[in-house]
Amino acid sequence: MADRRPILFFDSGVGGLSVLAPTRALLPRAPIVYVADNAFFPYGLKSEAEIAGRVPALLGRLAAHYRPRLVVNACNTACTIALGTMRAVLDLPVVGTVPAIRPAALASRTRVIGVLGTEATVRQPYVDRLSADYAADCVVLRHGSARLVELAEAHLRGEETPDDAYREVLAGLLGQPDGASIDTIVLACTHFPLVADRLIAVAPRPLAFVDGGAGIARRVAYLTQGQSWPDDPPPGVAVFTGPFAPTAAFRGSLARFGLTVFERF
Ligand code: SIN
Repeated sequence: MADRRPILFFDSGVGGLSVLAPTRALLPRAPIVYVADNAFFPYGLKSEAEIAGRVPALLGRLAAHYRPRLVVNACNTACTIALGTMRAVLDLPVVGTVPAIRPAALASRTRVIGVLGTEATVRQPYVDRLSADYAADCVVLRHGSARLVELAEAHLRGEETPDDAYREVLAGLLGQPDGASIDTIVLACTHFPLVADRLIAVAPRPLAFVDGGAGIARRVAYLTQGQSWPDDPPPGVAVFTGPFAPTAAFRGSLARFGLTVFERF
């Protein structure tokens, strides 16, 4: 009998959809549960203690309820703070998302790269370690932007988001000393690839934007190799921990990622 256990994706909001999309492309028959911890959104403005206190425990309760075969924590903020604790708490594989500094360093010609994440992510020692391990010969500039998280959420809700807002976010990196030499930017928050086309459109010069979505999808496919998938996977479930009153546009956005069933947890 086919294994009907889902893959559980987790994020503070809609950002994890940028990881869900490439995973669904590789594993189209995978049952999906997508959890947005919107009751505690935004993570990027929370303290380390708050994130470490909430996320592993919540994931434990979610795993007990939805019985996934694997968890993808699609939130850089949570993973750079508490990935080890999540793995210790959950008795199943946990794939984390951390800033794609290695691929950016491999791609950069100028050896100046930017890391665009949340305020919480860019200050993490985890990012220092990634920079030291994979980009030691690069200048690594960082900028935290809660605004870009909000813009991505608004974009998914179908709201207009002004070009100038994206310009200002980029200026936070490009306006730093050495920022004029940046050629590659790590999108170190899963929300950001959802608006990458807007960043590309307003960028003052050609820039490469790098994120970890495709690599995470390959990791999930690798970890589930040899497992069976249902021929008739159930509709994807979107789970919200807080208030949820989706507009038609937001429902449409979620449906494009295969999520058509809505639940509160
Ligand atoms: C946020 O809730 O601030 C975004 C978290 C993230 O994806 O890093």
